[in-house]
Amino acid sequence: MSAETSGTKRLDGKVALITGGASGLGEITARLFVKHGAKVVIGDIQDKLGHSLCQELGTANISYVHCDVTCESDVENAVKLAVSKHGKLDIMFNNAGIMGENEVKVSETSLKDFKTVLDVNVLGAFLGAKHAARVMVPAKKGCILFTASLASKICYGNSHSYKSSKVAVVGLAKSLSVELGEHGIRVNCISPHAIFTPMFQKTLRLQDKKKGEEMVSASAVLKGTLLEPEDFANAALFLASDEAKFVSGVNLTIDGGYSLTNQSWKTGLSVLSQ
Ligand SMILES: NC(=O)c1ccc[n+]([C@@H]2O[C@H](COP(=O)([O-])OP(=O)(O)OC[C@H]3O[C@@H](n4cnc5c(N)ncnc54)[C@H](O)[C@@H]3O)[C@@H](O)[C@H]2O)c1
Repeated sequence: MSAETSGTKRLDGKVALITGGASGLGEITARLFVKHGAKVVIGDIQDKLGHSLCQELGTANISYVHCDVTCESDVENAVKLAVSKHGKLDIMFNNAGIMGENEVKVSETSLKDFKTVLDVNVLGAFLGAKHAARVMVPAKKGCILFTASLASKICYGNSHSYKSSKVAVVGLAKSLSVELGEHGIRVNCISPHAIFTPMFQKTLRLQDKKKGEEMVSASAVLKGTLLEPEDFANAALFLASDEAKFVSGVNLTIDGGYSLTNQSWKTGLSVLSQ
């Protein structure tokens, strides 16, 4: 049963701005938020994709704005647009992110790459929170979400820039949850394990979705199921909804328990059987 027919629209009447909403996890989340009654503005730099998502959904409840999250005036403009179009901003989802050059040794990391990753992933998230806070504080309510990553918890081969950026995002969210909690604003992060999206495809140079899912599954702790973009979107839906009205300062891991283990222990054990 769909959210419309079941009468369980969990974001009814809410207004959300989702950065990086034209593709991947942001796109899936935008679709789910609209399904649950939210009015969604997606901000991204992929204008064609953003517009075609709005056209495909064919509803006035979703719109696109060009928003480079590293550009403060773009972010300010996107927040203003959401407010002028829909009268308020309830949910600011700072989801846009880039991987940068993956698996590069520190001695070979270019300054440009390191700065670019931090600019998009950290500065962009900060600007989103800053401009959302400006409209949420007077309203005395709101929800700010960030997409961090499992890289905020463990090291598994990502570049130093990506890892640093995602740890920083979690720090920023915690710090904001303390300041903004006074104004009734909740701030949380979502940290997914690897999910097959354009970023995943590009990073692993892999087009085959089934192979990608098999790869993640092979190392999973939780067996018998797959991590899909919808699992991420459902976590965002929960955190953005009033069901999470007392949840703040959390970094919600979507990894089926992966970060609780250290798989290299098994490698160590194999020495005993040699
Ligand atoms: N897919 C995964 O395995 C995975 C795992 C952990 C965390 N994440 C995080 O999830 C988020 C979404 O990633 P995804 O996998 O959907 O990748 P994606 O590449 O499909 O989506 C990222 C979106 O961000 C947009 N973007 C990039 N730079 C931007 C900028 N300067 N301004 C505005 N938008 C910009 C891109 O155009 C794209 O639409 C990212 O923050 C990423 O770090 C992804």
